[in-house]
Amino acid sequence: MNLNRSDKLFKEAQKLIPGGVNSPVRAFKEIGINPPFIAKAQGSRVYDEDGNEYIDFVGSWGPMILGHNHPGIKKALGKQLELGTSYGAPTALEVETAGIITEIVPSVEMIRMVNSGTEATMSALRLARAYTKREKIVKFAGNYHGHHVIENTITADYNDTEGIKAIFRESGAQIATVILEPVSGNMGVVPAKQEFLDNLRAITQKYGSLLIFDEVMTGFRVALGGAQSLYNIKPDLTCFGKIIGGGLPVGAYGGKREIMEMVAPLGPVYQAGTLSGNPLAMTAGLTALKILRENPEIYIQLEKKAKRLQEGLETDIMEARINRVGSMMSVFFTQKPVFDYRSAKKCNTQMYAKYCKSMLEKGIYLPPSQFEAFFISHSHTDEDIDLFLQKNKEILGRTGGLKIL
Ligand SMILES: Cc1ncc(COP(=O)(O)O)c(C=O)c1O
Repeated sequence: MNLNRSDKLFKEAQKLIPGGVNSPVRAFKEIGINPPFIAKAQGSRVYDEDGNEYIDFVGSWGPMILGHNHPGIKKALGKQLELGTSYGAPTALEVETAGIITEIVPSVEMIRMVNSGTEATMSALRLARAYTKREKIVKFAGNYHGHHVIENTITADYNDTEGIKAIFRESGAQIATVILEPVSGNMGVVPAKQEFLDNLRAITQKYGSLLIFDEVMTGFRVALGGAQSLYNIKPDLTCFGKIIGGGLPVGAYGGKREIMEMVAPLGPVYQAGTLSGNPLAMTAGLTALKILRENPEIYIQLEKKAKRLQEGLETDIMEARINRVGSMMSVFFTQKPVFDYRSAKKCNTQMYAKYCKSMLEKGIYLPPSQFEAFFISHSHTDEDIDLFLQKNKEILGRTGGLKIL
């Protein structure tokens, strides 16, 4: 695979941008190669600056559930471009976007749009502190909520109900909120157990703490109604990002009316954004959400394709565990279950690095980190899945282990 132009660009980028990238994982550091620089994308494919074509299972880290450059989103954006890109003033688009999200996710009675997932969780946490008049935040090892520093936190083990009960027995009266990814995608894919989430809901209610679901990744991904609809749990606040922007930068946080009414200008919690709710991002997001709402078969097909990929990989790789919820999936090179950060960290990350590098050379673009999710999109065809499985076989040894390449 020729990456000459990408290598040249990376060298140049490193002089100008820290590490040559605008988000760390893109540097491919974990797998020890230089990143391909992407020039364009269409459907299930991305193309780099050297003209290499890849079947993309990163999907811009989640937003591209409909595939790249979706014609409906492109057309809507074209129309909006004629009308201007940002006004810094209220728009009908914002009302419609808030309407569709609150309709699909009933726990969200009011919503505020921001520009990234990081901003959404940061704002939700501040709001939770203000509402409860408490300071402490419980979060879970291996969950990611953006790059802001969350102070005054207690870090608990994911899926450890007894651990969380002990934390609440000790500090329950000071805990403002528990925040978590209801299906974690940031230690690789690790789903929460139903019993764990049921207990979290009950215990936060008992102690008067809020429960925040960070559905930046899972929202409109694992099901139309997100993880909260899969698990049938109503969090107090929910954070969104990724899919709700249809490929443009968007985040949002929302939840119970009584809590959201504390946000400025209605209430004392000041939160603002120059480009929040900007019409281009709202147009892309709204179009994506409408397509997803009006075509429920998309989720059925995503499940089918992802299941087929999972089953194929399970048959062919002897030494891996595959965690999957809907169209989010991870391959862990371990023979033991992966259910929290500790167990995720125990898997063979060097093997994953080798796997990822070999697959990239075969034209399959996977997340260049063990601790990220593969995303299957509506634009992936059965042939794409077959190609993945075929390339997977080509790099495996006869025993189902990996050849040292
Ligand atoms: C669960 C979760 N929360 C928050 C974020 C932060 O979102 P952003 O990168 O848009 O700031 C991410 C990003 O991957 C995420 O996966």
